[in-house]
Amino acid sequence: MLFSAFLLSLAFGRVFAEADNDDDLMSFVTLPKLRALKFDIAYHDREAVAPGYWFVAPYGIIDPEVPTKQWKPCQVGPYIYDADGILVWAGSCMFDNRNVFDFKAANNIDGESHLSFILQRQYQDDGTDKGYGYVLDQHYEQQYKVGVVNDLSAFNMHEFNVLDGGKSALACLYKSQNTDLSALGRPEEDSWIVAGGLLELDTKTGEILFEWSSFNNVLVNESVKVHTDSPASGHPGWDYIHVNSADKNSVGDYLLSGRFASTVYYISKEGEIVWRLGGKLSDFDMDFTFSKQHHARFVESNGTHHLISIMNNASDEGENEEDVSSALYVQIDTTASPMTATVAKRINRPDGGLTRLRGNVQALPNGNTFVGWSERGYQSEHDPDGKLLMEAKFASTRFSSYRSYKYPFTGRPKTPPDVVSSVYGTDETDLTTIFHVSWNGATDIASWKFYARSADDGVPVPIGNTTKTDFETMYIAGGYLNWVSVEAVDKDGNVLGTSEVHQTQTPSNWRLAGFQSESQPQPDNPSITYSTKEEEEEEEKEEDMEDMDMEMDTDSQVDPEEAAKAVVKAYEMVRGVGGFLIFLLVACSLGGLLAGIYYHLRRRRARAYYEVPSDEAERQPMAST
Ligand SMILES: *[C@@H]1O[C@H](CO)[C@@H](O)[C@H](O)[C@H]1NC(C)=O
Ligand SMILES: *[C@@H]1O[C@H](CO)[C@@H](O)[C@H](O)[C@H]1NC(C)=O
Ligand SMILES: *[C@@H]1O[C@H](CO)[C@@H](O)[C@H](O)[C@H]1NC(C)=O
Ligand SMILES: *[C@@H]1O[C@H](CO)[C@@H](O)[C@H](O)[C@H]1NC(C)=O
Repeated sequence: MLFSAFLLSLAFGRVFAEADNDDDLMSFVTLPKLRALKFDIAYHDREAVAPGYWFVAPYGIIDPEVPTKQWKPCQVGPYIYDADGILVWAGSCMFDNRNVFDFKAANNIDGESHLSFILQRQYQDDGTDKGYGYVLDQHYEQQYKVGVVNDLSAFNMHEFNVLDGGKSALACLYKSQNTDLSALGRPEEDSWIVAGGLLELDTKTGEILFEWSSFNNVLVNESVKVHTDSPASGHPGWDYIHVNSADKNSVGDYLLSGRFASTVYYISKEGEIVWRLGGKLSDFDMDFTFSKQHHARFVESNGTHHLISIMNNASDEGENEEDVSSALYVQIDTTASPMTATVAKRINRPDGGLTRLRGNVQALPNGNTFVGWSERGYQSEHDPDGKLLMEAKFASTRFSSYRSYKYPFTGRPKTPPDVVSSVYGTDETDLTTIFHVSWNGATDIASWKFYARSADDGVPVPIGNTTKTDFETMYIAGGYLNWVSVEAVDKDGNVLGTSEVHQTQTPSNWRLAGFQSESQPQPDNPSITYSTKEEEEEEEKEEDMEDMDMEMDTDSQVDPEEAAKAVVKAYEMVRGVGGFLIFLLVACSLGGLLAGIYYHLRRRRARAYYEVPSDEAERQPMAST
């Protein structure tokens, strides 16, 4: 309750603040076009939440927006966050800031992570881009893109339910048709209606594998929105059933939610309505009511016994008159006579509010429930007893998410990590290179390793590492490092990805930027800066080595074992071309290999240096995020 009050005060405090600033959005040096939404999060029991990432798709205006010539940052579209609200993937730039609905992980295709969502039709007069159902693979590359193949005006925004195996997906059907009004006792009149139904589509071809429409199956008098005296409608007609979800069970039958009939329909694979739950023609002996529901899903179903979940806008009349939305689990037994439907679980909206539109209920594998209450991206997670574990909502009041989900996910983008590096300083002695690094869509990054080289095709010299704590990580390194790159590393030390080599940005005018010397600074050679800094007394010995004085100093900082290994390695390299004799010949006459050994030793030394624990703050390079 305290939290609600807190949120409320935040909300009110923000109404005015938000009109003229963007504090409620994240921005990043590495992705300058992006403004991602921030979350306000309250954990009530952090230990008990299920593992997984959040899948949300913020939109500002539900209809496609009129094209504008003004530049807009990427804000609207599909996003993945971790359970601390840290951004994992922003897909808003990839899909041109267009509205996306029903964004979730589709982990039921081939054991690998996938994403599915609806890209809303584009605003345009000719109506050529009617929207699509998309499936992306874990590399964020398109696997399927399903268009509208029949005469429907748009890919309906409510559902893109990829079925197990990924060969087909369910979508909602909306179609204007003409009907006589005998169901309203006015047989001589006719009217346009928007029939609702479901489609099962082939994800590769878009071919319709199954189609069911409410036309002639659900009459207009079943609607809670149409009355006996409602005046007949012109095209497109009464949205009398308002279908908003479709699901399929293992025996091949379908579950369809008709919001404006307050009814959930069970439709056999032959296209017959087998039963109706709720509404005017309910087939059940029910001790509860629901209305204006969303997102009806099979949690378990074997054809006769079902556990279904529903997002219910209204309250249980039997229990109390409170007007609060809830997530409902309903247990259905169709073998009983009469058939029974009982509430197995009810989870009221934690802030006591109403979800007037949209929303969803997701049964998580560990028995928890994740609920998207839609407006302002409000979402909550509950334990198997319904106890509130977490609630979160967008910091911004300007956006909502049609549905919100939680899933485990592995993201491995094909694009490399993004890096921006800049050099700062007031004279040659305090030059500092600052890195910003991120990798849009990559999960499992534990740390970043930073490299510099003297030329863009030079040898990378490790200069430091740091823990990844946020979407974008900052790192500060001493010196002017001109050519840089980074590696993303997982918790086991595996390299997940490597950036391209980037050139460090410099002030456009060093003098005007406060640099005190007469001449412009020159970039450092990282192999010198980062291998010798620590032990300058070693410098001379190294110079000796450069003169091909092949002495193996055991008192140097180089581990003697490592040095011996380096020699053996070099030896093994030449063994392949003719044995130790050749090695000696080559070593004595050309000296080239000795240079190679020398280089190998230097690298060892550089590595020995950079293995400095990052918590020793006074050391350089120092890290922060
Ligand atoms: C709707 O009208 C039909 C035909 O007149 C009738 O059979 C049916 O019972 C009516 N349904 C409802 C919910 O009143
Ligand atoms: C369906 O499940 C119920 C309850 O678990 C069980 O009693 C029934 O036999 C099952 N029916 C089929 C066809 O498997
Ligand atoms: C919820 O549904 C009930 C019953 O249909 C309706 O009277 C009420 O207005 C709805 N509430 C909201 C907030 O939409
Ligand atoms: C940096 O690298 C060293 C050596 O591999 C390792 O011991 C240390 O844990 C790393 N630090 C971070 C923050 O990854």
